[in-house]
Amino acid sequence: MKRFHGGGVSGVVDFSVNTNPLGPPSLVEEAVAWCIRRRVYTFYPDSNYEELRQAVSSFYGVSRENIVVCNGASEALSLTVMVLRPKTLVVVQPSYGDYDLLCRALRIKCIDFYMSEVGEGFRFNVEVLLDMVKKLKEPLIVLTNPNNPTGLVLEPRVVEQLITDVSGKAWILLDEVYSELSGYKGFMGRSEFENIVVVRSFTKTLSIPGLRIGLLYSPNKGMVRRIDMARPTWNISSIAECTLRRVLSRYAEELWKFIEYSRSYIVEERIFLTSRLRSLGYKVYDSKTNFILLRHDWIDTISLRDALLNKYKVLVRPAHTFKGLTRYHTRVSVRRRKDNELLVNALGELVKSS
Ligand SMILES: Cc1ncc(COP(=O)(O)O)c(C=O)c1O
Repeated sequence: MKRFHGGGVSGVVDFSVNTNPLGPPSLVEEAVAWCIRRRVYTFYPDSNYEELRQAVSSFYGVSRENIVVCNGASEALSLTVMVLRPKTLVVVQPSYGDYDLLCRALRIKCIDFYMSEVGEGFRFNVEVLLDMVKKLKEPLIVLTNPNNPTGLVLEPRVVEQLITDVSGKAWILLDEVYSELSGYKGFMGRSEFENIVVVRSFTKTLSIPGLRIGLLYSPNKGMVRRIDMARPTWNISSIAECTLRRVLSRYAEELWKFIEYSRSYIVEERIFLTSRLRSLGYKVYDSKTNFILLRHDWIDTISLRDALLNKYKVLVRPAHTFKGLTRYHTRVSVRRRKDNELLVNALGELVKSS
């Protein structure tokens, strides 16, 4: 079964992965080198990840009994579904995730609930979703917010309404991996909602997709314990564990400053890309995060990707594999100004030549 994701091509200007355009902060790179010098890879990491969990929970200001550290957000998402074992998995689409694979592997019924396209955005009709969910037995609802691939961020009151209205009947899995880069507060630490699992990741925020560190939070300690029991014993490598523990426990304040600066950088570059691409005739959806979704009815996304790759060594993410999107949708990440100019020029020439 093939999985379709961005990245994985070297020697290109990569707009297909949604990592922080500023790259990893030097603090992280120094910590990786420090951990390697100490040859931590010759030891097993602490199988309970006590110190790492402490560092992560202080960083987010939540209790460590409420979190599980995971091998990227991907593991957190899979573990949650495996442990909750819902009768039905409802995925709000378009959305990131290989949920169909999980549903097939675990023999769970998967239902897609589609947001509708309105103008330059997507609308999420919470009432219709609630009506549908009420008829289902033991459902788990997956909501990716900030949304990949649309860049939409739902208002917290809409998410609160959903969580409250299904309380006691359904669990909600909130995939919030783009929160830090979007300035979205999200539901980490919202202890009043017992039926949520929140997933976060350091992958995008610190631009470290190869280290593989994410986490999940739930106010429901029983659920956290069950998920923690289900994870592989050493699910995070000793290099990743050592790096993140060192950075979070010593330099948390610097890291938050870096994140804040990254956000303002992204906002500026997103405005630049959005306005330039709109003036070239591309439909650009309103995004609140570090990537944008485009529509280009005159060329399909695979031809567009190939043309950009062959001529300009620029890699974008065809978005037709996201449910609810078409072969005329493409996702691009917000990168540094020089790269963004390259993308704008390349897409401009593509318009002229078509
Ligand atoms: C919405 C969303 N959730 C989860 C992930 C997986 O993140 P990680 O690399 O931390 O496993 C991604 C990666 O693209 C994503 O876009």
